[in-house]
Amino acid sequence: MEKHNPETINFEELAQLSSLIKHIYDFDFSLYAEASIKRRVTRIMQLQKLSLFELRTLLTNDFSYFESFLKEITVNVTEMFRDPEMFKAVNETIIPYMQSYQNIKIWNAGCSTGEELYSFAILFKEAGLYDRTYFYGTDINADVLEQAQNGIYGLTNMKKYAENYFETGVAGTLSNYYTAKYDAVTINHSLKKNVLFSTHNLATDGVFNEFQFISCRNVLIYFKPELQQRVIDLFYDSLANFGFLCLGSKETLRNSDFKRFKVIDQKNNIYQKIA
Ligand SMILES: C[S@@+](CC[C@H](N)C(=O)[O-])C[C@H]1O[C@@H](n2cnc3c(N)ncnc32)[C@H](O)[C@@H]1O
Repeated sequence: MEKHNPETINFEELAQLSSLIKHIYDFDFSLYAEASIKRRVTRIMQLQKLSLFELRTLLTNDFSYFESFLKEITVNVTEMFRDPEMFKAVNETIIPYMQSYQNIKIWNAGCSTGEELYSFAILFKEAGLYDRTYFYGTDINADVLEQAQNGIYGLTNMKKYAENYFETGVAGTLSNYYTAKYDAVTINHSLKKNVLFSTHNLATDGVFNEFQFISCRNVLIYFKPELQQRVIDLFYDSLANFGFLCLGSKETLRNSDFKRFKVIDQKNNIYQKIA
């Protein structure tokens, strides 16, 4: 007979765990898509060899454990110029529009380790707009933000990132923007100087500035529709009139949003706020 693996969780147990976490930490996991959270919790239990009882005990008694649990729950996969065609579209549609602004603010929500934000910074640099642009990168996970701030990435990733960059068709060379040493590269100060990273929870935090452009890619897919709607409302309220919003390749606005956002590029999920 097959042995039951104690390091797994079913949907009912997951709901109980979410309610325990909400009660103790006021963090609402029930707003995240269940299948993904279930996979991540199971992974944590298996890697740390924890039964559900042990996991509940740790979460109840050890506040510092929750910090690391939260980090394991979120998916932080990212890369520079991920979906090059989208960056090409940003370069062709959004960048020309930005030329008319004296000051530009960009919010990269759910920026993970910063590769996406630095990719936008390179586009703006190549377009001669960098010096009048501020880039704000936010995430719920403080560890990834520290990595983003350091701007240090593995040299082996750069080959793929350079290929992505080439595919965007944007002029310039990626290696102009970093310094390589041994097996790592560091993003140059010239690209970091107008960049600010800070924590922001899309599920609970509010508007913190007004932006001409917001990019939030591959984040909404992990949220239930109710939280997705909250976040879209937050972006709408955070955008200047005629500001732009970019979502990930598997994400889109709901029908009701098309009254307040114009589709600029359907394939690449680029929208513009209409007043
Ligand atoms: C898959 S990464 C996406 C990174 C990047 N935007 C990209 O497309 O390559 C998703 C990021 O969303 C962040 N995230 C998850 N829940 C969040 C929340 N409630 N508020 C802010 N960020 C969140 C995660 O920590 C993670 O870094």
